[in-house]
Amino acid sequence: CESHLSADAVELGQYRHYMQKEIFEQPVALANTLEMLGTARSIQPGLFGAKTEELLSDVRQVLIVACGTSYHAGLVARYWLEGIAGVPCNVEVASEYRYRDSVSDPQTLVVTLSQSGETADTLAALQHAKSLGMTRTLCICNVPESSLVRENALRFITRAGPEIGVASTKAFTTQLAALYLLTLIFAKLRGRLSPEVEAAELQALRHLPVAVGKVLALEPAIQTWSEDFAMKQDALFLGRGRHYPIALEGALKLKEITYIHAEAYPAGELKHGPLALVDKDMPVIAVAPNDALLEKLKSNLQEVRARGGELYVFADADSEMPASEGVHVMRLPEHYGQLSALLHVIPLQLLAYHVALVRGTDVDKPRNLAKSVTVE
Ligand code: G6P
Repeated sequence: CESHLSADAVELGQYRHYMQKEIFEQPVALANTLEMLGTARSIQPGLFGAKTEELLSDVRQVLIVACGTSYHAGLVARYWLEGIAGVPCNVEVASEYRYRDSVSDPQTLVVTLSQSGETADTLAALQHAKSLGMTRTLCICNVPESSLVRENALRFITRAGPEIGVASTKAFTTQLAALYLLTLIFAKLRGRLSPEVEAAELQALRHLPVAVGKVLALEPAIQTWSEDFAMKQDALFLGRGRHYPIALEGALKLKEITYIHAEAYPAGELKHGPLALVDKDMPVIAVAPNDALLEKLKSNLQEVRARGGELYVFADADSEMPASEGVHVMRLPEHYGQLSALLHVIPLQLLAYHVALVRGTDVDKPRNLAKSVTVE
């Protein structure tokens, strides 16, 4: 069973750590996860199970429950499900949802996300949803034999392969690919996906492994930035829209494996608190793809610069975002539209990894953390 594979059973090969190996496996993990698409120009709803169409057709809303990095994948998916498919979506931390008095609707699709399929709170949150009468259930999970997979009516198994590093990387990007497929299925069932757009979306998914591979080539440049971070106590990550959850994920990666205190904020909230923390000792990392919110983000970043904050900006090849004193800019090779979140998380994974190396922490087994949290 993949979930019980010990580190010894998976070769490190050319890599120093499992986390680094797993970051670099992302093109293959995505290609394997999306393999069933083949060269088709249209998507088969049966990808999530034989009853997909039947269970999804009159769904009124989606409720996503998960923990940790999987929760962040759910937060990205909300932007897709509402923006592309027009399906109302809530995303909840499993440990909160399971104990909260919530209002249930039987026409909800409950989506649980988990790498391991054994996270106690996620399993309990699913049981809680079922006890409230919500029987349309779908999980996206990386371990086919896991408890979670057995408990759901519909399922999608990501094919990331065993993930050994405690800090999740390839499970996250493959979950996002699966969630994008789910979004496309909903959009299609609701008549919001023309055949041309559908074919183009599938092509964009198929190209992801190549696009991710190009982003991975930024590693040496990211390594040079990591020296600046290694001596810091705190870091602030900013993003907007569907890249706000990517900022959250970047902050989580950094705190998990470097023990640097990191927070993420939606950049528009800066004025409501975090700006008070900004000074020359607080590096600010911005996720700045060339999307509709870039100009808004730029004015948020000017506010940081005006307070002496040092900016580290991940932009796109075509973002108008010049470097200047105190503003370091790294460009991703291509802008990737709706799927850009999958690319923008990669440099943040690499940054956390290289800062951890400089600080000499135990990258694959950070203190106090477990790979799979099977107790409450
Ligand atoms: C632990 C792991 C994280 C993971 C989270 C949820 O905290 O260290 O990497 O994101 O559990 O795990 P799951 O297996 O449910 O995705």
